[in-house]
Amino acid sequence: MVIKFITKSLDENLYIDDVPLSYTKYGNGSFIRIMMNENEIIGIARIYDKRNVMELADVYIYEKYQGQGYGNMLIENMINDVKENIVLWTTSDNIKAINLYKKYGFIERKMDKRMEKRLRAKYKWIKSKLIYFTKQV
Ligand SMILES: CC(C)(COP(=O)(O)OP(=O)(O)OC[C@H]1O[C@@H](n2cnc3c(N)ncnc32)[C@H](O)[C@@H]1OP(=O)(O)O)[C@@H](O)C(=O)NCCC(=O)NCCS
Repeated sequence: MVIKFITKSLDENLYIDDVPLSYTKYGNGSFIRIMMNENEIIGIARIYDKRNVMELADVYIYEKYQGQGYGNMLIENMINDVKENIVLWTTSDNIKAINLYKKYGFIERKMDKRMEKRLRAKYKWIKSKLIYFTKQV
């Protein structure tokens, strides 16, 4: 299977399975990466340029493609591209994601209280612990 990566800037509109993905433009470095085979989207990931650090977000492999190594390919692709410190957050019940990030050198750190408060306010339905990871270049 031929895999290709498409990069779009974050201010473009994109629909996946009729779900609109809304973007916030932080800076020139922000982008969304779309991983495709010949005719379908396999997964996506976004990078937000937060000036002093890059935040990796919305890492998502479509269900039918999960568990087949595509997450590895997507993370490797992002890490190879972003040659700066990367931060991200996930939840304590997302074992697959935690394993994936640890495999690529992300280290769990204590989340800043203000960040946690902001995320809790935004994602009210999340009950589990929030996990913050960083990867230094
Ligand atoms: C998390 C996710 C991106 C992983 O992608 P994937 O294509 O399923 O993962 P891969 O098959 O490439 O596996 C990559 C690594 O993930 C971890 N992993 C994958 N499936 C796993 C499972 N069932 N149990 C535990 N760890 C698992 C392993 O570390 C694996 O490394 P390995 O290949 O050396 O075993 C994918 O499952 C997903 O999109 N989940 C839903 C959205 C989500 O939760 N995104 C993360 C938000 S922070």
